[in-house]
Amino acid sequence: MPGPADAKARQAAEAARPQLGHGVGLRVEHYARALEAPLGVDWVEVISENFFGGGGRPAAVLDAVRPQMPLVFHGVGMGLGSPDPPSAAYLEQLRTLIDRWAPAWISDHLCWTRFGGHHGHDLWPLPYTEESLRRVVERIDAVQEALARPLVIENLSSYLAFAGDEMPEWEFVSAVLRRTGCKLLLDLNNVVVSAANHGFAARDYLEAIPREAVWQFHLANHSERAGYKFDDHRGPVPDTVWSLYRQALERFGRVSTLVEWDEELPAWESLRAQAERAREIEAAFVEAREVQP
Ligand SMILES: [Fe+2]
Repeated sequence: MPGPADAKARQAAEAARPQLGHGVGLRVEHYARALEAPLGVDWVEVISENFFGGGGRPAAVLDAVRPQMPLVFHGVGMGLGSPDPPSAAYLEQLRTLIDRWAPAWISDHLCWTRFGGHHGHDLWPLPYTEESLRRVVERIDAVQEALARPLVIENLSSYLAFAGDEMPEWEFVSAVLRRTGCKLLLDLNNVVVSAANHGFAARDYLEAIPREAVWQFHLANHSERAGYKFDDHRGPVPDTVWSLYRQALERFGRVSTLVEWDEELPAWESLRAQAERAREIEAAFVEAREVQP
């Protein structure tokens, strides 16, 4: 339970950040459902690159959904820590999405994806060094200037660490947030996965993150193989992640929350039930702090 100064800082951070409520990642499998009837969630997140074509069914889906609720574009291709910066054409595509659908924000991952003109189509962890930090900070500054808005970056899950790491991941992430003023999409499943794979305490990670920088949570599932956890987003949010969600509410206060489920997707109503469970947990947290602030 935080002390009075902590509670005050938490309240201030909560009041300053946008509150979208509880949403679900809208994937291709549920486009038909989205065109059929209201989705019944507070907001949705979609993969930015799926809309770069600008037309067809994906655009029709967003045209139908956007009047109902806020929308966030979540990218997988910016590759902020790659040797080469995001291209002008890539940023132009994002600007087109912003102009057309007015998202609440644009997010991408704190990772690298490209090298020597190749695109890896995967999200690789960065070396946590001063040199890598300087490069990422420069890139984020440039992207924020190009898009004229704060960028929201997501922490990655990882399975290996670089021998040359100079600081823990949470110190690197916090430095990025402080130096650029960008915001954090804190994926709580990724924290659970990386904590298990690297042997750190998830709570230490949360405690190191500046409260005011957190704009969004991701909740998802992971699997276990050969002693490692993998964030495969298949299945309902597990108890370990719900438990960290409760701890994250204590640390950060209310934060826009989104459920990710990307493999073997169930019916939309099952996804919606996950968002409702998150809403109930948040409501219990709010009720408890009103009794004992
Ligand atoms: Fe995520």
